[in-house]
Amino acid sequence: MSYPDVRPRRLRRTPAIRRLVTETRVAPAELVLPMFVKEGLAEPRPIATLPGVFQHSRDSLRKAAVEAVQAGVGGIMLFGVPETRDERGSGGTDPNGILNVALRDLAAELGDSTVLMSDLCLDEFTSHGHCGLLAPDGTVDNDATLAAYAEMGVAQAAAGAHMVGPSGMMDGQVGVIRKALDAAGYTDTSILAYAAKYASAFFGPFRDAVESALQGDRKAYQQDPANLRESLREVELDIAEGADLVMVKPALPYLDVLAAVRATVDVPVAAYQVSGEYAMVEAAAANGWLDRERAIMETITSIRRAGAQIILTYWAVEAATMLRESY
Ligand code: PBG
Repeated sequence: MSYPDVRPRRLRRTPAIRRLVTETRVAPAELVLPMFVKEGLAEPRPIATLPGVFQHSRDSLRKAAVEAVQAGVGGIMLFGVPETRDERGSGGTDPNGILNVALRDLAAELGDSTVLMSDLCLDEFTSHGHCGLLAPDGTVDNDATLAAYAEMGVAQAAAGAHMVGPSGMMDGQVGVIRKALDAAGYTDTSILAYAAKYASAFFGPFRDAVESALQGDRKAYQQDPANLRESLREVELDIAEGADLVMVKPALPYLDVLAAVRATVDVPVAAYQVSGEYAMVEAAAANGWLDRERAIMETITSIRRAGAQIILTYWAVEAATMLRESY
């Protein structure tokens, strides 16, 4: 009978020992809560495919945002759902569009007590559901879209966003938005670039959340899930164009991309645990097929371990509360 010379189990023996040697800790301040506000809504409305997540009215948004900040989350990423849509997504650029109005509400309510972020993309506002303006042949016109993004970025900064989050994957979007912000005097508004964003099945429930009318898919502008080096190129371009932070999205199926991005750049790296990642855990848990709270913390910790220092997650408030209780 021979005995092992090395016994890794010694450091797993008690909760106190495990706590002492843990390599990855998530802090509530690193979690960002994505929130939806819908125009014309009187009461918050549950989103069927995202149990526990709501389309907010302006009023309920304000209250829920205050609660999130009190729970310790580090920021809020806001999405707007307009009552009507058109070809050009005018509701996104309009200073009185729902997203900009709600940004002003939150800026007034929260001031600098949190980081107010806004999704900068046209898909919630266009009748066709694409992230940009369509050319006559039906494809998304990159350069025409850039002008709309520039206008949208300035409107969001004027409404009080600390950070704008371009998520449409148009070439040159970060540079154009940076120039427009600077020209309008918003030199201190940062850009959180959705730099590496994949054409993912995991955005499914989000379409429901924003009532997207998308026909077809986004494969001609979002990235092929098979590609990793392409993400490094996207990230480097965005930083060269002026991105202050970069994001990888979705998170869990792309931990290798996250780790590679973290190893390559020196700006803060964020990851977005998207709607489908949330829904799959919630659905399995509702069936009793896994332990919900453990699965939530395991996925968030893994995203942190892979290299994200900021994590956008629909569980931000609940996770922040669990984390505060566990310290
Ligand atoms: C674009 C945008 C999307 C998401 C965030 N920003 C949708 C898309 O690109 O298709 C998805 C977020 C999620 O699935 O939780 N406005």
